[in-house]
Amino acid sequence: MTVRRASRLAMLGCCTMALGAGSAAAVAANADALTAPARVWAGACAYCHAQGVAPPIFGLGLAPAAIAAVVRGGLNGMPAFHPSEITDVQLQALADWLAQQPAAPAKH
Ligand code: HEC
Repeated sequence: MTVRRASRLAMLGCCTMALGAGSAAAVAANADALTAPARVWAGACAYCHAQGVAPPIFGLGLAPAAIAAVVRGGLNGMPAFHPSEITDVQLQALADWLAQQPAAPAKH
């Protein structure tokens, strides 16, 4: 009886520790996802701009402010993105990052 109880407690301790480690990692990943521009690009832009639906953006030499204005205001077929979708901090990082991307190599 005592042994069984002890081992159940040990199991609980083990699971609590595993959960704790897991949520710490999740918080770190979330914090990263909040600003990492490549992730915002992949999640919000690439499905048009890297799929031939919209013109390529890499290597155009656009100023970050011009990119940010298009994202906030939209442009013809491109939807506007609200701050609830892409925060100002994310947009700043995204626009700076995009402005620095070299042109994608031509596809063969
Ligand atoms: C639903 C498809 C779609 C999505 C999603 C999209 N775009 Fe666009 N985007 C377009 C289209 C289409 C154009 C071309 C509009 C035109 O010139 O008439 C465009 C144009 C642009 C331009 C202007 C390019 C130029 O030559 O002036 C920029 C900058 C841009 N998009 C950035 C982004 C960014 C950054 C994201 C992600 C936050 C994004 N777009 C998401 C469709 C999209």
